[in-house]
Amino acid sequence: MTNRVRKAVFPVAGLGTRLLPATKALAKEMLPVIDKPLIQYAVDEAVAAGIDHLVFVTGQTKKAIEDHFDRSAELEAMLEAQGKTDLLARIRAVLPPRVTCMYIRQPAPLGLGHAVLCAKPAIGDEPFAILLPDDLIDCDGPGCTEQMVRCFEDSGHSLVAVQSVARAETGRYGIVRLKSPDGRGGPIGEIVEKPSPDRAPSTLGVVGRYVMSPGIFEALENTAPGSGGEIQLTDAIAAFLGEETIGAFAFEGTRYDCGSREGLLAANVALGLKDPELRSVLQRLRDSS
Ligand code: UTP
Repeated sequence: MTNRVRKAVFPVAGLGTRLLPATKALAKEMLPVIDKPLIQYAVDEAVAAGIDHLVFVTGQTKKAIEDHFDRSAELEAMLEAQGKTDLLARIRAVLPPRVTCMYIRQPAPLGLGHAVLCAKPAIGDEPFAILLPDDLIDCDGPGCTEQMVRCFEDSGHSLVAVQSVARAETGRYGIVRLKSPDGRGGPIGEIVEKPSPDRAPSTLGVVGRYVMSPGIFEALENTAPGSGGEIQLTDAIAAFLGEETIGAFAFEGTRYDCGSREGLLAANVALGLKDPELRSVLQRLRDSS
């Protein structure tokens, strides 16, 4: 098996109930942070890591995602005729020409693990990244996926991104216990889905970036529904720990949970503050409050 990571899976078939009614007819991954949909941040991150095969596992609200990554000949012709070259360049930059997209339908929202398993025919026997686009990870240096791909290509071990979370919040995350911590994480000894604070083996929470060897598919095929009646990726990783070393990867960057109201607002403010034009708007609002 090659250590080169060429493919990424984007599970985008969740119901996004925490953001209703915004997500009633629109995939939450199409919600914008400033002027780009969440899915675009994740795709840009994967492409910057050298990935050129994008596999989207979609649900009922798939059309907008497909349309977003398609060329729009009509719109391009109109912008060209109007001489709006800046805007034209921005929509053409949505996807570099070397990148190909595949869309696979998850027949029902049976869980993140099930969504990843749906991508098996498109991945085959090679390592791949998984990006959950509602986790927006803002990095000043290389993106989170690039950091992980480099680490995978060096070590050959599957990786799960982690960050410290408040003990009161362990019930919202997969939680890992490390076998032997090192500077950037370390091999995982145990992983549990959404443990209550008193049962959590640590406060290291899993966030939505993974680099997996293809053996995870067999583990997923043998995973029964778990927390919430869904097939959980965390449970498959727990089973896979018996067969392969899986590392916890403490990335450099700030993660915003854009599947929640608080995280979506925080990401807009934080990225707005980094934008020279928008910063003054936020400063004016602060001064007038
Ligand atoms: P979440 O745990 O955020 O669930 O999914 P959700 O249904 O999208 O949102 P809430 O909790 O109801 O607000 C984590 C990721 O897994 C995908 C989601 O699209 C998201 O990227 N997912 C989840 C699927 O693709 N299929 C599923 O069956 C479940």
